[in-house]
Amino acid sequence: MKYFLDSAKIDEIREAYESFGIDGVTTNPNHIMNSGKPFFTVLGELADFVKEKDIEGWDKFPISVEINPHLDDADEMVEMGSKIAAMCPNFVIKIPCTQAGIAAARRLEQQGIRTNVTLVFTPSQALLPAKNGSLFVSPFIGWKESSGESCEQYIQDIVDIYANYGFLGKTEIICAAVRTGKQIADCAVAGADIVTAGLQVFKDSFYHPFTDYGLAKFQAAWDKTITE
Ligand code: E4P
Repeated sequence: MKYFLDSAKIDEIREAYESFGIDGVTTNPNHIMNSGKPFFTVLGELADFVKEKDIEGWDKFPISVEINPHLDDADEMVEMGSKIAAMCPNFVIKIPCTQAGIAAARRLEQQGIRTNVTLVFTPSQALLPAKNGSLFVSPFIGWKESSGESCEQYIQDIVDIYANYGFLGKTEIICAAVRTGKQIADCAVAGADIVTAGLQVFKDSFYHPFTDYGLAKFQAAWDKTITE
Protein backbone atom coordinates (compact mmCIF):
# COMPACT_ATOMS: atom_id res chain seq x y z
CA MET A 1 0.00 0.00 0.00
CA LYS A 2 1.29 3.43 -0.93
CA TYR A 3 1.59 6.30 1.55
CA PHE A 4 0.67 9.82 0.42
CA LEU A 5 1.23 12.85 2.61
CA ASP A 6 -1.86 15.01 3.05
CA SER A 7 -0.21 18.42 3.26
CA ALA A 8 0.74 21.53 1.30
CA LYS A 9 3.69 22.39 3.55
CA ILE A 10 6.93 21.84 1.66
CA ASP A 11 8.99 21.24 4.83
CA GLU A 12 6.62 18.41 5.87
CA ILE A 13 6.66 16.94 2.35
CA ARG A 14 10.46 17.04 2.31
CA GLU A 15 10.71 15.38 5.74
CA ALA A 16 8.25 12.62 4.84
CA TYR A 17 9.90 12.00 1.45
CA GLU A 18 13.44 11.92 2.81
CA SER A 19 12.75 9.98 6.01
CA PHE A 20 10.18 7.36 5.06
CA GLY A 21 9.74 7.62 1.31
CA ILE A 22 6.19 8.78 0.72
CA ASP A 23 4.82 7.89 -2.70
CA GLY A 24 2.90 11.09 -3.41
CA VAL A 25 1.07 14.09 -1.95
CA THR A 26 -2.52 15.18 -1.65
CA THR A 27 -3.49 18.76 -1.00
CA ASN A 28 -6.82 20.49 -0.54
CA PRO A 29 -7.87 24.14 -0.07
CA ASN A 30 -7.60 23.71 3.69
CA HIS A 31 -4.00 22.52 3.50
CA ILE A 32 -3.09 25.36 1.12
CA MET A 33 -4.65 27.88 3.53
CA ASN A 34 -2.70 26.30 6.42
CA SER A 35 0.57 26.74 4.51
CA GLY A 36 0.00 30.49 4.87
CA LYS A 37 1.08 31.06 1.27
CA PRO A 38 -0.78 32.05 -1.92
CA PHE A 39 -2.20 29.17 -3.98
CA PHE A 40 0.12 29.57 -6.98
CA THR A 41 3.20 30.07 -4.74
CA VAL A 42 2.53 26.67 -3.15
CA LEU A 43 2.08 25.07 -6.57
CA GLY A 44 5.40 26.58 -7.68
CA GLU A 45 7.15 25.13 -4.59
CA LEU A 46 5.70 21.69 -5.28
CA ALA A 47 6.83 21.87 -8.92
CA ASP A 48 10.36 22.87 -7.80
CA PHE A 49 10.46 20.00 -5.27
CA VAL A 50 9.81 17.26 -7.86
CA LYS A 51 12.44 18.79 -10.16
CA GLU A 52 14.98 18.86 -7.32
CA LYS A 53 14.27 15.22 -6.46
CA ASP A 54 14.17 14.10 -10.11
CA ILE A 55 10.70 12.61 -9.71
CA GLU A 56 8.83 14.51 -12.40
CA GLY A 57 5.62 12.96 -13.72
CA TRP A 58 2.31 11.92 -12.17
CA ASP A 59 3.34 8.29 -12.58
CA LYS A 60 6.45 8.83 -10.41
CA PHE A 61 5.13 11.09 -7.65
CA PRO A 62 1.52 12.26 -8.02
CA ILE A 63 0.52 15.50 -6.33
CA SER A 64 -3.21 16.12 -6.14
CA VAL A 65 -4.23 19.77 -6.41
CA GLU A 66 -7.87 20.73 -5.88
CA ILE A 67 -9.63 23.19 -8.16
CA ASN A 68 -11.54 26.19 -6.79
CA PRO A 69 -14.29 24.55 -4.70
CA HIS A 70 -16.76 27.29 -5.69
CA LEU A 71 -16.83 26.05 -9.28
CA ASP A 72 -19.97 24.10 -10.19
CA ASP A 73 -19.81 24.24 -13.97
CA ALA A 74 -17.95 21.48 -15.83
CA ASP A 75 -16.49 23.88 -18.45
CA GLU A 76 -15.02 26.12 -15.75
CA MET A 77 -13.71 23.09 -13.85
CA VAL A 78 -11.99 21.79 -16.99
CA GLU A 79 -10.51 25.23 -17.67
CA MET A 80 -9.03 25.55 -14.17
CA GLY A 81 -7.90 21.92 -14.12
CA SER A 82 -6.11 22.36 -17.45
CA LYS A 83 -4.36 25.50 -16.18
CA ILE A 84 -3.12 23.74 -13.02
CA ALA A 85 -2.06 20.60 -14.91
CA ALA A 86 0.01 22.70 -17.35
CA MET A 87 2.18 23.93 -14.45
CA CYS A 88 3.74 20.59 -13.51
CA PRO A 89 3.58 17.04 -14.93
CA ASN A 90 3.03 15.70 -11.39
CA PHE A 91 -0.22 17.54 -10.81
CA VAL A 92 -3.36 15.43 -10.65
CA ILE A 93 -6.54 17.47 -10.65
CA LYS A 94 -8.71 16.96 -7.62
CA ILE A 95 -12.40 17.42 -8.32
CA PRO A 96 -15.45 16.94 -6.09
CA CYS A 97 -17.78 13.99 -6.62
CA THR A 98 -20.69 16.00 -7.99
CA GLN A 99 -22.43 15.67 -11.37
CA ALA A 100 -20.41 18.59 -12.80
CA GLY A 101 -17.25 17.24 -11.15
CA ILE A 102 -17.64 13.79 -12.70
CA ALA A 103 -18.31 15.36 -16.12
CA ALA A 104 -15.21 17.55 -15.79
CA ALA A 105 -13.03 14.65 -14.59
CA ARG A 106 -14.22 12.55 -17.53
CA ARG A 107 -13.29 15.29 -19.99
CA LEU A 108 -9.92 15.99 -18.38
CA GLU A 109 -9.05 12.27 -18.51
CA GLN A 110 -10.03 12.23 -22.22
CA GLN A 111 -7.52 15.08 -22.69
CA GLY A 112 -4.78 13.10 -20.90
CA ILE A 113 -4.99 15.10 -17.65
CA ARG A 114 -5.17 12.79 -14.65
CA THR A 115 -7.84 13.30 -12.00
CA ASN A 116 -8.63 12.47 -8.39
CA VAL A 117 -12.33 12.48 -7.54
CA THR A 118 -12.67 13.56 -3.93
CA LEU A 119 -15.27 13.99 -1.18
CA VAL A 120 -16.51 10.43 -1.70
CA PHE A 121 -18.58 9.00 1.14
CA THR A 122 -20.42 5.97 -0.33
CA PRO A 123 -19.51 2.98 -2.53
CA SER A 124 -21.97 4.18 -5.20
CA GLN A 125 -20.13 7.52 -5.38
CA ALA A 126 -16.86 5.59 -5.72
CA LEU A 127 -18.09 3.70 -8.80
CA LEU A 128 -18.49 6.76 -11.03
CA PRO A 129 -14.84 7.92 -11.14
CA ALA A 130 -13.79 4.38 -12.02
CA LYS A 131 -16.35 4.11 -14.83
CA ASN A 132 -15.05 7.39 -16.22
CA GLY A 133 -11.35 6.58 -16.04
CA SER A 134 -10.12 8.75 -13.18
CA LEU A 135 -6.65 7.92 -11.87
CA PHE A 136 -7.75 8.16 -8.22
CA VAL A 137 -10.86 8.06 -6.08
CA SER A 138 -10.74 9.45 -2.55
CA PRO A 139 -13.19 7.90 -0.10
CA PHE A 140 -12.95 9.74 3.23
CA ILE A 141 -12.50 7.70 6.38
CA GLY A 142 -11.88 10.05 9.30
CA TRP A 143 -14.88 12.29 8.77
CA LYS A 144 -17.25 9.32 8.77
CA GLU A 145 -15.65 7.65 11.78
CA SER A 146 -15.69 10.89 13.77
CA SER A 147 -19.45 10.99 13.26
CA GLY A 148 -19.84 7.45 14.58
CA GLU A 149 -19.64 5.30 11.43
CA SER A 150 -17.26 2.37 11.09
CA CYS A 151 -15.37 2.41 7.79
CA GLU A 152 -13.94 -1.10 7.52
CA GLN A 153 -16.91 -2.44 5.53
CA TYR A 154 -17.16 0.76 3.48
CA ILE A 155 -13.58 0.43 2.23
CA GLN A 156 -13.95 -3.34 1.75
CA ASP A 157 -17.12 -2.76 -0.33
CA ILE A 158 -15.30 -0.30 -2.62
CA VAL A 159 -12.39 -2.72 -3.07
CA ASP A 160 -14.80 -5.61 -3.80
CA ILE A 161 -16.85 -3.57 -6.27
CA TYR A 162 -13.68 -2.48 -8.09
CA ALA A 163 -12.53 -6.12 -8.21
CA ASN A 164 -15.92 -7.22 -9.61
CA TYR A 165 -15.63 -4.89 -12.59
CA GLY A 166 -11.89 -4.83 -13.33
CA PHE A 167 -11.28 -1.33 -11.95
CA LEU A 168 -8.66 -2.38 -9.38
CA GLY A 169 -5.28 -0.85 -10.24
CA LYS A 170 -6.81 1.37 -12.96
CA THR A 171 -8.56 3.79 -10.63
CA GLU A 172 -6.54 3.64 -7.43
CA ILE A 173 -8.35 3.92 -4.11
CA ILE A 174 -6.91 6.63 -1.85
CA CYS A 175 -8.32 6.27 1.66
CA ALA A 176 -8.41 9.89 2.75
CA ALA A 177 -8.63 11.80 6.02
CA VAL A 178 -6.95 8.88 7.77
CA ARG A 179 -6.35 9.72 11.42
CA THR A 180 -4.94 6.64 13.16
CA GLY A 181 -2.61 3.68 12.77
CA LYS A 182 -5.62 1.38 13.14
CA GLN A 183 -7.29 3.05 10.16
CA ILE A 184 -4.08 2.63 8.14
CA ALA A 185 -4.11 -1.09 8.98
CA ASP A 186 -7.84 -1.40 8.21
CA CYS A 187 -7.27 0.13 4.76
CA ALA A 188 -4.39 -2.28 4.11
CA VAL A 189 -6.45 -5.31 5.22
CA ALA A 190 -9.22 -4.26 2.82
CA GLY A 191 -6.68 -4.00 -0.02
CA ALA A 192 -6.89 -0.24 -0.63
CA ASP A 193 -4.13 1.07 -2.90
CA ILE A 194 -3.15 4.18 -0.92
CA VAL A 195 -3.67 5.97 2.39
CA THR A 196 -3.25 9.71 2.67
CA ALA A 197 -2.68 11.23 6.10
CA GLY A 198 -0.95 14.07 7.89
CA LEU A 199 2.67 13.79 9.00
CA GLN A 200 1.82 13.28 12.68
CA VAL A 201 -0.54 10.39 11.84
CA PHE A 202 2.29 8.54 10.10
CA LYS A 203 4.71 9.38 12.95
CA ASP A 204 2.22 8.07 15.51
CA SER A 205 1.73 4.90 13.47
CA PHE A 206 5.45 4.09 13.77
CA TYR A 207 5.28 4.32 17.56
CA HIS A 208 4.66 1.61 20.13
CA PRO A 209 5.54 1.92 23.85
CA PHE A 210 6.92 -1.65 23.83
CA THR A 211 9.48 -0.56 21.24
CA ASP A 212 10.76 2.03 23.73
CA TYR A 213 10.52 -0.50 26.56
CA GLY A 214 12.46 -3.07 24.54
CA LEU A 215 15.12 -0.55 23.59
CA ALA A 216 15.66 0.44 27.23
CA LYS A 217 15.91 -3.24 28.21
CA PHE A 218 18.42 -4.04 25.48
CA GLN A 219 20.45 -0.90 26.24
CA ALA A 220 20.74 -2.05 29.87
CA ALA A 221 21.88 -5.48 28.71
CA TRP A 222 24.37 -3.97 26.27
CA ASP A 223 25.85 -1.83 29.04
CA LYS A 224 26.43 -4.92 31.24
CA THR A 225 28.15 -6.83 28.43
CA ILE A 226 31.78 -6.65 27.29
CA THR A 227 31.43 -5.48 23.70
CA GLU A 228 35.05 -4.59 22.81
C1 E4P B 1 -7.88 13.97 0.94
O1 E4P B 1 -7.41 13.88 -0.16
C2 E4P B 1 -8.09 15.19 1.69
O2 E4P B 1 -7.09 16.13 1.38
C3 E4P B 1 -8.06 15.02 3.15
O3 E4P B 1 -7.79 13.75 3.58
C4 E4P B 1 -9.14 15.78 3.80
O4 E4P B 1 -9.28 15.55 5.13
P1 E4P B 1 -8.68 16.35 6.33
O5 E4P B 1 -8.12 17.66 5.85
O6 E4P B 1 -9.82 16.52 7.26
O7 E4P B 1 -7.61 15.47 6.87
